[in-house]
Amino acid sequence: MESLYKKNFLKMLDFSGEEIQYLVDLSEKLKAEKKKGIPHDVLRGKNIALIFEKTSTRTRCSFEVAAHDLGMSTTYLAGGSQIGKKESIKDTARVLGRMFDGIEYRGYGQEIVEDLAKYSGVPVWNGLTNESHPTQMIADMLTIEEHFGHLKGLKFVYMGDARYNMANSLMITCAKLGLDFTACSNKKYFPSEELVEKANEFAEESGGSVTLTESVEEACTDADIIYTDVWVSMGEPEEAWKERIHDLLPYQVNANAFSYAKENAVFMHCLPAFHDLGTEVGREINKKYGLSELEVTNQIFESSRSIVFDEAENRMHSIKAIMYATLVP
Ligand code: CP
Ligand code: NVA
Repeated sequence: MESLYKKNFLKMLDFSGEEIQYLVDLSEKLKAEKKKGIPHDVLRGKNIALIFEKTSTRTRCSFEVAAHDLGMSTTYLAGGSQIGKKESIKDTARVLGRMFDGIEYRGYGQEIVEDLAKYSGVPVWNGLTNESHPTQMIADMLTIEEHFGHLKGLKFVYMGDARYNMANSLMITCAKLGLDFTACSNKKYFPSEELVEKANEFAEESGGSVTLTESVEEACTDADIIYTDVWVSMGEPEEAWKERIHDLLPYQVNANAFSYAKENAVFMHCLPAFHDLGTEVGREINKKYGLSELEVTNQIFESSRSIVFDEAENRMHSIKAIMYATLVP
């Protein structure tokens, strides 16, 4: 395998199964070192920029803590910068590339993060775009491997909105690593044919498989992992909720879905999750639609099957591995 030094981390399509596995293994090693109190501040003196055009808890905190553990300083850029208002991404990239050793970007179109990488000349890490969420993939695979001891051959079921960043990235990652990936949704929300075609090619090579179905019973039978994400993503219009609730409520992760799954099946979610609607946005939805939980029931979210907080912790260890691999010669 070629070194990942100086490479960008923009989407899962850019990496081989071997490279993805390498990042999972490196995350595991750095996690073990941190737990033992072994320092790994090998990037002392380096500086990174964190651009967030959308909100974040896990991704931002992971980049900041991981950078600190590696010895680097961070500069957070959100509202208040010139980006996208007075200054283009191309110009921003050329400015930040002169000052920083690496740049994280969370925002809208995939082409923005691709341009940032093209013009900055330093490693760029995609902290989430509409099309993909690649850093989340390393954390998710690490979490699954920790739990089951392996990845190949596991039945991974994604329920809900399967045409956005999370499902796109999970389908490609599972296909490259030899998991059996099933997207279960109303077919309006299936991933694009073009991406499914690519995923099928990867699965053929890895020994995995890709299935799309509208049947919860078919999808969840013998599942090892049932995964979901919010039904309306950041940047999508508020008005989308009505139609999404109507179309996706049959694909809620609940006791019925798990009744078909293996006895030791687990629940995963990238978070944040609408599992009890006790938040500000949740209360609004509850008032409008009379529901008390959306993509996952509170019962499943709070059950012993749920490994969502291991998954959240692993965001930090895996983002550290991604920065380490691309910045350490
Ligand atoms: N999963 C995830 O990306 O979380 P944040 O939006 O809090 O960063
Ligand atoms: N699909 C979600 C993922 C959040 C981590 C979003 O884009 O808002």
